Amino acid sequence: MKGILLAGGKGTRLYPLTLGVSKQLLPIYNKPMIYYPLTMLMLAGLREILIIGTPQDLPQIKRLLGSGEQWGVQFEYAEQTHPKGLAEAFLIAKDFIADEPVCLILGDNIFFGTGLWKQLQNAAQLKSGALIFAYPVQDASAYGVVEFNDAGKILSLEEKPTQPRSRYAIPGLYFYDSQVYQIAKSLKPSARGELEITDVNKIYFEKSQLQLELLGRGVAWLDAGTHENLLHASNFVQTVEERQGLMIGCPEEVAFRMNFINRQQLRTLGETHQQNGYGQYLLRLLEEP
Ligand code: TTP
Repeated sequence: MKGILLAGGKGTRLYPLTLGVSKQLLPIYNKPMIYYPLTMLMLAGLREILIIGTPQDLPQIKRLLGSGEQWGVQFEYAEQTHPKGLAEAFLIAKDFIADEPVCLILGDNIFFGTGLWKQLQNAAQLKSGALIFAYPVQDASAYGVVEFNDAGKILSLEEKPTQPRSRYAIPGLYFYDSQVYQIAKSLKPSARGELEITDVNKIYFEKSQLQLELLGRGVAWLDAGTHENLLHASNFVQTVEERQGLMIGCPEEVAFRMNFINRQQLRTLGETHQQNGYGQYLLRLLEEP
């Protein structure tokens, strides 16, 4: 399976912060936002990752992430000229996807919690059909919404409904088989002019090929798309990190724990930043049993 990180968009809700810089490069406490979804893909065990960004922002994103070699992964980059919707990612990624299943994660989605790693690893085994997640939120109207019965069977999917049929939002983390390109290609833009990921999911649903998994209450899912949420996400990360002395969304650490890099490579990465807490944290990891 390959990974796609969608990091384009206009970020209008974050103006003026995003007038000069990509939303995905804004800080969430001590790291650029993009580190958080990126480490999710790495935790799923994915090492071939396509990063999609706007033509203006892609150079800075590349400057930050490079080839991926430093973390034992391989990045490719592609432009999305206009934000025509999440499902356009699959059209842009046509050659990258080729005949493989793929995981799409949104560049402003942050996940943290117990059992996530196992869920990701399982999801990354998907060979056919699609898998999405459900997460309870207080107001689901800003999201794709999934309604399901007691047996976990999906009953309906809606995109940003004014009156949601359930309080379960669909987080920006999706797993698809290689049909996804053809499916995305068959879509027509919605009333708001976008190629909707919900329409992709509906097609899998109609073919009875859509699986649903619940992200439990032990998992935090945050999207950092508004000023309030950006601050909440930073505060959340700071609180957890300071309490536990462990970082959330640290690519060097994930690369090390996933055995994508060895001790010596981690030491080199840590030594590059050893004058600050981030580098010192990486070096401390080497002392763990
Ligand atoms: P959104 O938050 O829906 O859109 P946005 O980032 O442009 O922000 P705003 O609504 O404030 O204008 O996007 C969710 C994520 O998906 C975000 O990380 C940006 C990304 N995205 C793209 O890369 N391309 C797109 O066409 C769209 C719609 C979103």
